[in-house]
Amino acid sequence: MNAVVSPAVEREFVFHRHDFEKVRKTLMSMAGIRLADSKDGMVYSRLARRLRALNIDSFSKYLAVVEASSVEQEQFINALTTNLTSFFREPHHFDALARYLHEHPDTHTIWCAASSTGEEPYSIAMVVAEVYGTYKPPVRIIASDIDSNVLATAKRGVYAAKSIEKLDTCRKQQFFHRGTGQNSGKVRVVDELKNMITFKQINLHQPDWGFKQEVNVIFCRNVMIYFDKETQLRLLARMVDLLPAEGMYVAGHSENFNLQSNLVRPMGKTLYRPVK
Ligand SMILES: C[S@@+](CC[C@H](N)C(=O)[O-])C[C@H]1O[C@@H](n2cnc3c(N)ncnc32)[C@H](O)[C@@H]1O
Repeated sequence: MNAVVSPAVEREFVFHRHDFEKVRKTLMSMAGIRLADSKDGMVYSRLARRLRALNIDSFSKYLAVVEASSVEQEQFINALTTNLTSFFREPHHFDALARYLHEHPDTHTIWCAASSTGEEPYSIAMVVAEVYGTYKPPVRIIASDIDSNVLATAKRGVYAAKSIEKLDTCRKQQFFHRGTGQNSGKVRVVDELKNMITFKQINLHQPDWGFKQEVNVIFCRNVMIYFDKETQLRLLARMVDLLPAEGMYVAGHSENFNLQSNLVRPMGKTLYRPVK
């Protein structure tokens, strides 16, 4: 039988339980993200990279730097967010968006509230361009995320070619350039599609998101799951405030608000209409 080796012996940096607790508390207060007990290994490996980059030899010293430096606070958040996404993830939402746009020709604003590396807002933009038959529709798309690294990737709009494998040929040809030479194996979103989107850094926990007018459709998918129930409901209520009575809130596949009948009512699979 193999000897059980204490993780502290194996690990490059000492990582105490109280360091993990401090990470949890800090991330909760900055981003509202709740880390389960089981996430200590994930926290260690993601933050160990920051310790190496800054040449710091202990977690307690690193956490003191986070406390004192807003630059490192941003890196801390970037390191700990989970950014999994893909083009046309949960495809029924994009069919619903096309239907919504046909039925609501007065739609002017769509907000993609946790846009990660950009696949989701670009999927939204493709649908909008298709419905209106132009890259200059009367609809603005705002894509935001707390994580500055993923926003930079989204603005670049360059992806592995395999990430668009499942898109139909028409979409591949119309909306992407295929890389050649040293860019082979990559694709780049066409500028016209990119120009349809405004990328912004928004922490959903900041008191003001900066919207001056209503938002017709909010995609807020697969981010609420990282927040506790109370935070989810507080954010949902703020989003409902932004939506008009005919608006649409799009949730992620495991985010169910069917019981929140005071705020929203279901209008399809993980699709909601605000209660006004
Ligand atoms: C799993 S991804 C979901 C991406 C996309 N919405 C989708 O469903 O494919 C979650 C995203 O939420 C972002 N996020 C986490 N906490 C946030 C917060 N407090 N404010 C804004 N974005 C946040 C993360 O940076 C990450 O990019």
